[in-house]
Parts: sequence; structure tokens; C-alpha cells
Amino acid sequence: MGFGIFFPLFCCAFILFFSSELSPVNSSIPGKFDGFIYGNNPAREDSIIVEAFMDPICSDSRDSWEPLKLAFEHYSPSIFLMVHPFPLPYHDNAYVASRALHIANQLNSSSTFPLLELFFKYQGNYYNTPTEDLSRSSIVSDIAILAANAVGDNSLSAFKNGFQDPNTDTMTRTSFKYGCSRGVSGAPYFFVNGFLLPDAGSALSYTQWTAIIQPLLSQQIAADHLLASDL
Ligand SMILES: *[C@@H]1O[C@H](CO)[C@@H](O)[C@H](O)[C@H]1NC(C)=O
Repeated sequence: MGFGIFFPLFCCAFILFFSSELSPVNSSIPGKFDGFIYGNNPAREDSIIVEAFMDPICSDSRDSWEPLKLAFEHYSPSIFLMVHPFPLPYHDNAYVASRALHIANQLNSSSTFPLLELFFKYQGNYYNTPTEDLSRSSIVSDIAILAANAVGDNSLSAFKNGFQDPNTDTMTRTSFKYGCSRGVSGAPYFFVNGFLLPDAGSALSYTQWTAIIQPLLSQQIAADHLLASDL
């Protein structure tokens, strides 16, 4: 009797094991690291690396953006900032908006952050309640018009075509999956030098950012002194 149950189970486990061996397990690795790099600071060995997972249709993400930008400007060029779109499933238009960021980035990479800021500015138009009676295609058209303001003149039809391009869908899925792989389940989530900051899901003030970054830079200076005294 025991064998009767075990044998089929064993077969299943066996097949699962070998099929996972044979399948291209790495096929979901994107050709390019997910995210949009803010500003022109290069990533150096001693950069303070800030990763922000943001939903363009989330009010806490919106509220966190200005203080983060101020901190970025204050600590440049020591800071390397990367923003990952993370569309929350309970924000109905977050996926379309995140896809729009990928399309904008492809059409004119300088327009990605201006478009993110347009989303933050007009976010209220894309919340669930004001859009509940709108069709998906009318929301996409509306977003394409908004985006054309950032991407440049005559970009409207290119932008609409971007929504037909399966690659922009893949890139947006990759953003979502990448966030999941880092344990992101809300927005905004911030990682500094790879470590998740507490109070994930809430906006941080400029003062909170300086309280996080300043000690890290001081640590680096102290470490440099230690090295210098060894030499
Ligand atoms: C690209 O986007 C930037 C930011 O919105 C804008 O200033 C610039 O004119 C755009 N480039 C073109 C070629 O339209």
C-alpha cells in the first residue's frame, strides 16, 4: 500500500527534477539590468547605491520623490540612484503607467523621469475610482497623450505603437518580477547598498535621507583613514 502511493509520487518528483534540469531556467534573465538610472553619476566602487521601487500611481511613491531627489543632489556624485517601476496589482493603471515609462525610456531616454514626474503630478486622474468606467484603450490613449509631452513633439503615434510592442510588455513584467525577487510588496521600497530600509511603503523625508546617508559616508572616510595609517 505504501509503495502504491509512493511510486507515483516518486515518478512525479523524478520528472519534475529532470524537467527543471532540462528547461532553460535562466531564460527570464533580462539582457539589461532592470531600472532607470537617475542623473549622470557613475556607479563607483564607493558609491552609496540607492534603489527605489516606485509605483507611478502610488501617492507614497509620489511623496517620496522630491525628498529623494534633494538628497541625491546634496550627496552627488557619491550617490548612485536607480528607480525600478513596481506596479502594484491593486492600482488598476499602474501596469500601463509602468509600461509607459519603459516606452518613454526607449523612445527618448531623457524623458523617463520627466514622465514619472508627470505621473506623480496627474496621478489622481489615474486612481481606481475616477477610471472605473473607462475602457482600457481610452486610458492608454490618455497616457500616450500625457507621455508625448515628455517624450517630444510628434511622438504620439510612436508612443501608441510602443503599447503594441511585446518587448515593452516583457520589460514591464521583468520590473515587477525583479521587485518580487527582492521581496518588494509595496511602494516605495528603498534599498541602500543592497539593504532594505525600515518603514518600507512610506515616504522618507529629506532629513531621514541625510540621517541614513551621512553616517555611511562618515564610515567610508573613517575606513580610508585607517587604510592611510596602515601604509
Ligand atoms: C527628450 O525628452 C526631453 C525631456 O522631456 C526633452 O527635453 C527633449 O526635447 C526630448 N528630445 C526630443 C528629440 O524630442
